[in-house]
Amino acid sequence: MIRTIDHIAIAVADLDEAVELYEKTLGLRVTHREHVDSFNVDIATFEIGGTAIELLEGKSDDSAVRKFVETRGPGLHHIAFVVDDIEKSLATLRAQGVRLIDETPRRGKEDTLVAFIHPKSTQKVLYELVQLNKKR
Ligand code: CO
Repeated sequence: MIRTIDHIAIAVADLDEAVELYEKTLGLRVTHREHVDSFNVDIATFEIGGTAIELLEGKSDDSAVRKFVETRGPGLHHIAFVVDDIEKSLATLRAQGVRLIDETPRRGKEDTLVAFIHPKSTQKVLYELVQLNKKR
């Protein structure tokens, strides 16, 4: 079901400040920036060897990412797996009694479909499933 890791997401308080840190300190370069409406987050992606680090800043008070940063501080937020057929993967997980945050996929960055698994079912790690745009 899982093909590879699409990205590792890090929640930050200030995206520009974090991007500067990653560029100056780690020598990485941003490969993609986007505002993702469905989650009300700004993202900056650094592609690294077939996967990516994705920095996330919540843009509203009701954003889960902002709440995360306010409660726990910035840090590792989730790991995203690429799957071929997200509906099928969700059905497979549901059949095993796995709790899902998203019962149906939401639109993610760059026309992907995404859904989160509830961390209560994965020993407290937040995992995201990503179905890449079929055109690519
Ligand atoms: Co993600």
